[in-house]
Amino acid sequence: MKLLVVLSCLLVVLSNGVSASSDVAAFMKHLEVIPDVIDEGPKDFLTVTYDKIFKADKGVELSPTQVKNQPVVEWEEADPSEYYTLLMTDPDAPSRAEPKFREWHHWLVGNIPGNNVSKGDVLSAYVGAGPPKGTGLHRYVLLVFRQSKKLDFDEPRLTNTSGEGREKFNTRKFIEKYGLGAPIAGNFFQAQYDDYVPTLYKQLSGK
Ligand SMILES: *[C@@H]1O[C@H](CO)[C@@H](O)[C@H](O)[C@H]1NC(C)=O
Ligand SMILES: *[C@@H]1O[C@H](CO)[C@@H](O)[C@H](O)[C@H]1NC(C)=O
Repeated sequence: MKLLVVLSCLLVVLSNGVSASSDVAAFMKHLEVIPDVIDEGPKDFLTVTYDKIFKADKGVELSPTQVKNQPVVEWEEADPSEYYTLLMTDPDAPSRAEPKFREWHHWLVGNIPGNNVSKGDVLSAYVGAGPPKGTGLHRYVLLVFRQSKKLDFDEPRLTNTSGEGREKFNTRKFIEKYGLGAPIAGNFFQAQYDDYVPTLYKQLSGK
């Protein structure tokens, strides 16, 4: 336990050091998040932390087991008098090689005051990574947008007990529909099948 605490502190120190000096868009281009999801990258790294330990950072591989619970997401430019939208999406559905359901979106929260995600309007509840067996690594992209004002989202409200309505999401169209512009912060990780995925599918089938 002590080791984990030391390790996670070290990770925090390391990732803070890197994010100050490097370019999130470069990492996104390297793994083709740009242009597969967005055209213009954010200038800031989003800090995404699962269970206080696992950081979803710069395309690192995490397992479906590690990302099963909603992460804590933080961004620097968080003005409490402004509203923000948070999105997590997988362009590699059902696989990066043949993404015919691109994108399967995992999380969508609008009207977040400052960076208090718990105060936002949950449009699509958080669902962890569930890449099908044999489909290789999927990219999971988290983006934060600053809204120009409080918005009236006419999206369907999706729970975490059904997979319906998640596929064929289009980040570009969503950005355009709500006039969100380029994301202000973002990050991403990759994941492939592990033995938590059947549990997730069971959850999504409402059982
Ligand atoms: C977010 O809002 C909740 C509910 O009002 C509050 O309890 C919590 O302290 C806030 N968190 C932060 C980080 O401001
Ligand atoms: C699903 O959402 C409910 C709240 O709507 C929450 O209590 C539960 O922990 C979530 N389940 C998972 C696996 O995230």
